[in-house]
Amino acid sequence: MLLVASVAALGGLLFGYDTGVISGAILFITKDFDLPARLQAFTISIVLIGCMAGSAVAGTVADAIGRRRTLLWAGIVFLAGAVISALAPNETILLAGRFVVGIGIGFSSVVAPLYISEVAPAPVRGALVSLYQFAITAGILAAYLVDYALSGGEQWRWMLGLAVVPSLVLVGGMFKMPESPRYLFKIAQAARARDELSRIYDDAAASAQEEQSIVASLQTKSDGIAAFREPALAWALFIGVSLAVLQQVTGINTVIYYGPQIFEMAGIASASTSILAQSLVGAVNCGMTLIAIFFVDRVGRKPLLYLGLIGMFAALSALAASFARPQLSGQNGTVALASMMVYVGCYAFSLGPIVWLLISEIFPLRVRGLGMSLSTLANWVGNFLVSQFFLVMVERLGLPGTFALYAVLCIVTIFFVRSVVPETKRELLESIRVYRP
Ligand code: BGC
Repeated sequence: MLLVASVAALGGLLFGYDTGVISGAILFITKDFDLPARLQAFTISIVLIGCMAGSAVAGTVADAIGRRRTLLWAGIVFLAGAVISALAPNETILLAGRFVVGIGIGFSSVVAPLYISEVAPAPVRGALVSLYQFAITAGILAAYLVDYALSGGEQWRWMLGLAVVPSLVLVGGMFKMPESPRYLFKIAQAARARDELSRIYDDAAASAQEEQSIVASLQTKSDGIAAFREPALAWALFIGVSLAVLQQVTGINTVIYYGPQIFEMAGIASASTSILAQSLVGAVNCGMTLIAIFFVDRVGRKPLLYLGLIGMFAALSALAASFARPQLSGQNGTVALASMMVYVGCYAFSLGPIVWLLISEIFPLRVRGLGMSLSTLANWVGNFLVSQFFLVMVERLGLPGTFALYAVLCIVTIFFVRSVVPETKRELLESIRVYRP
């Protein structure tokens, strides 16, 4: 099971690597292709447009050709995107390559957590889906380190091209992985589905119980977008989309994408120490995700969310306060840096993994692909808007105002989780109910 989840999580690794790598590569691409500022920004954001396109259709594809094959295709798309971008003779082809990479990320951001959650036994589902977030953060960290290592030689083609390696492993791996038993029941291949279930559960009774709950959940026939008119499904969609948006509007990607600029804007550090500080951000993000892997099935989703969000709120408030001083230096600069680490660390064991986990859990099987697609699409739209408007917000509100706004949104998220999000720890996937009329 760990192997299956790890291979699927490679989709997360590519997600992290491909969204992170451009921050370093763009400096040299700009030089080589002589890009004006507008095209520079577009080279960075086109990947997010691809992500939106990919995530919008991924659920429908996963329902049509299966989870396993969709992930395999995502790997092929990643591979093609990496090759096209690395070899691009001009900016237009580079943009095309980055768009293709975005489609790959969009696909895997829907199907990797969906697949992992559907093949995982209930008692460890949280840990296995959190492994996916761990892979995202490992990918981001790897991208920072590769950028750092290759920046001396200005080798942006290698920076983008190295994604070929995990793509090949993903494609090779997915050839061998099993299909989700839930999907097999959905397409009426009960014998194969039973076979897969008995591989997941050693215990025949547990496997029979899973089968029963999956089959029962398929009794209601309606699926497709119209199904979301049912109040229970509309409610699940509301929760999924809101969680996905809240994950973004609490500001994580301003630190992930703009960390070095923030350090420099505040006058904390020189360019090179900023890049180093950014690697530390990457390491904290990756390391702290382990806490979720260990605790999410023991203490539950909601307690971790509360703890993380309170920490994020406190850290953002401290950041706002220290950036409010005219020039950061000495002790105040250290407080700001430490707060940034606390913020990222707290996100890493809460909102990061648990949002992906919850949106893979709250939809019943018949609309799971579509529900995840729509929630993930909302996540990418949120990501796009926050990253596009961050610099504008800093201009209008200043850094203190911007961080204070994110802090307020953490509080909104706490109330949202408290009032509408169900605790799903150790429940069978098909027993999860989010609707309380
Ligand atoms: C988010 C990404 C973010 C990453 C940071 C993911 O869960 O969806 O937008 O860059 O976490 O670790």
